Amino acid sequence: MRIGVLTSGGDCPGLNAVIRSVVHRGTDVHGDEILGLEDGFLGLLEGRARPVSHDDVTGLLTLGGTILGSARVKRDRIRWAVDNAQRLARELGIDALIAIGGEGTLTAAKLFSDAGLPVVAVPKTIDNDIDATDVTFGFDTAVHVATEAIDRLKTTAESHQRVMVVELMGRHTGWITLTAGVAGGAHGILIPEKPFDIEAVARMVEERFRRGKKFAIIAVAEGAQPMPGTLRFEHGQLDQYGHQTFGGIGNRLANELEDILGTEARPVILGHTQRGGIPTARDRVLATRFGWHAVEAVHKGAFGHFTALRGNEIQLVPLADAVVRLKTVPPDRWAESEAVL
Ligand code: F6P
Repeated sequence: MRIGVLTSGGDCPGLNAVIRSVVHRGTDVHGDEILGLEDGFLGLLEGRARPVSHDDVTGLLTLGGTILGSARVKRDRIRWAVDNAQRLARELGIDALIAIGGEGTLTAAKLFSDAGLPVVAVPKTIDNDIDATDVTFGFDTAVHVATEAIDRLKTTAESHQRVMVVELMGRHTGWITLTAGVAGGAHGILIPEKPFDIEAVARMVEERFRRGKKFAIIAVAEGAQPMPGTLRFEHGQLDQYGHQTFGGIGNRLANELEDILGTEARPVILGHTQRGGIPTARDRVLATRFGWHAVEAVHKGAFGHFTALRGNEIQLVPLADAVVRLKTVPPDRWAESEAVL
């Protein structure tokens, strides 16, 4: 078979490991030809693709990013491509498509699948917010980077008796912030699912200082929000792809805490460092397993499905189930983390 593969949406560590796995399983075991579509769905739209051989994927297990490139694509262009899906696939000469991406990609994959394109998808995102899989690759690496940052900030915060506000990724969900916050022993963890009261955060820091602990680390997700009627703060508008933009909650929080407490507070925005670089062992393994199962799904004809981790098993789940809702941090997980503050 000739299988197209693309990576779409924001990149994350482990994408290349999936591509490598698809090539190994497809070419070595099934005799497939793998065609890499460039820059996500743009490659399909614009007919940009190149063969990916066994040699091309040597060393990819540890390489962050994606050798195929990735891009976000405006909704009207996706709609056009969906209407022309069969023709676009024919022009590229592909019999099936493996689409690797996050929520937006899975939504698009479902549209293409409904339009008759034989698609299997592989979920990825550092945010870990896809409900139908226990975890996505990229998340573990992001947590690792964020935890190390918190560890490092602690020593400098303590030396200078400062409050450090570390802003982590997570537009609508606080998985990275909660997990890295707990792992790094942050003193405050603020996530989108639980609007915060700035006065309560300030009191917690004051209380620490009274007890002689003269520094504090506050981990805040980029999408965290103050409780209504407390700190005045607004996130940005939707961008051209329909994604929420952010107003800099880390900076705002640090400035406000400094004013309230009269103690130095510094913001640290980790941003895309959480998405770059070498994937952790856990992410490499999950990505490799997803790639293996995606190829098998293609050969079984299980189109319209995506690979999901359920417990220790990889299962094939209908694409329709991928996009029903975001996986947010449930109240009991939040309650556990509150206990360690
Ligand atoms: O969805 C992954 C993610 O890294 C989010 O955590 C973050 O809000 C967003 O992508 C950033 O997107 P961009 O790279 O387009 O700024």
